[in-house]
Amino acid sequence: MKRNIVLAAAIVAITLSAGAMAPAARAEMSETGKLAAAKAGQIMFEHRCRSCHADDPAKQAYGPSLVGVVGRKAAALEGFNYSEALKSSGLVWTEAALKAWMADNTSIMPGTRMRHVGITDAAEQDFILAYLKSLK
Ligand code: HEC
Repeated sequence: MKRNIVLAAAIVAITLSAGAMAPAARAEMSETGKLAAAKAGQIMFEHRCRSCHADDPAKQAYGPSLVGVVGRKAAALEGFNYSEALKSSGLVWTEAALKAWMADNTSIMPGTRMRHVGITDAAEQDFILAYLKSLK
């Protein structure tokens, strides 16, 4: 009986220390993790972005191609008819800017031609971002 209590206490201690280590472990995702996030993001992209955006640089659709968009200046693609709002925004598509855009593009930029998509879940935003980063 006493041994069981000691064992239980040891398990609790191990669980707690593993929990305390979790944030550090999450800080740097493994290559496999990045691949998994990009696959999940591809599913999100198919459902939420593909109707207007190509993931092929040669194809412009109703929206501009998003290949290489991470780190690019807003409204930078030649030959795409961007709104005045996006052209004059001075935005650079950092990761933070892309997440904010997915969450609430129409509030950030009144006058954009992209209709509101409203992806507010942080994990879904991360998946889509991982997919956009994987596009070459
Ligand atoms: C209903 C069509 C539509 C959907 C759905 C849509 N977009 Fe857009 N998107 C557009 C249009 C149109 C523009 C150009 C906006 C402008 O000129 O103001 C745009 C512009 C953008 C830009 C700016 C690109 C640049 O070159 O500056 C990003 C980034 C973007 N969309 C991301 C996304 C993501 C991510 C999704 C899916 C979560 C998505 N969009 C879903 C139509 C759409």
